[in-house]
Amino acid sequence: MGILRRVYLKSDSEIELIKKSSLLVGKTLGEVAKLIKPGVPLFYLDKVAEEFIRDHHGVPSFKGYNGYPASLCLSVNDVVVHGIPNNDVLQEGDIISVDCGAYLNGFHGDYAYTFAVGEISEEKRLLVERTKESLLHAIKYAVPGNHIGDISHAVESYVKPFNYGVVRELCGHGIGKRMHESPDIPNYGKPGTGELIREGMVFCVEPMINMGTHKVTVDADQWTVRTADGKPAAHFEHQMAITSKGFELLSTYQYVEEALKTN
Ligand code: CO
Repeated sequence: MGILRRVYLKSDSEIELIKKSSLLVGKTLGEVAKLIKPGVPLFYLDKVAEEFIRDHHGVPSFKGYNGYPASLCLSVNDVVVHGIPNNDVLQEGDIISVDCGAYLNGFHGDYAYTFAVGEISEEKRLLVERTKESLLHAIKYAVPGNHIGDISHAVESYVKPFNYGVVRELCGHGIGKRMHESPDIPNYGKPGTGELIREGMVFCVEPMINMGTHKVTVDADQWTVRTADGKPAAHFEHQMAITSKGFELLSTYQYVEEALKTN
């Protein structure tokens, strides 16, 4: 908003650096994925992630960001995003969004995956699957000449038939030397509106989809975002660069998926 909200376009060599930050996030999520089971405390997942990022010469992007106290956002069941890791223990049937950021060589990587803890209900399984699919569907619209609103609309229209709530208060974002850059990428909107998508843009698309109402509340800690009706929410985030050919995914779920196979 306003003239100060510039979009910083990245050169190919900057995109190569961002890819390294993003790869570190992917590997960190893979390490966390190995540990997702009933009985594991949230703070332990955070500790493992922070150590892994630092061992690989990175800095956790979230820690200290506007005073945020941890390296991961761990959002269980009715927590949509920005759950602060605490002593709570994962329970069979939970879903948990793990959101991770890593700063390396001057650039940030940032993305998220929602996991099932043990066996989950069919309605939760569908919520998670459809949220992931909404992201994979929407990023196809991230090509030069389209508008941000095309991505936004793609998320919203994908989940509409399921009567899910699309969170409106939070959105995806540009990313680079700073974790949050212009433009904002809402998960609802009209095609053809918003910023023109152009070569050199790097951004994160992150649908936050609720099983029930789209309305959310924020806890007294000023971080934890919850669904207003207490029903579960799912969250996936991918990071991509816009190139002359279309989009290039910088984020990868490869390490997560490998870990899930052997869990
Ligand atoms: Co993000």
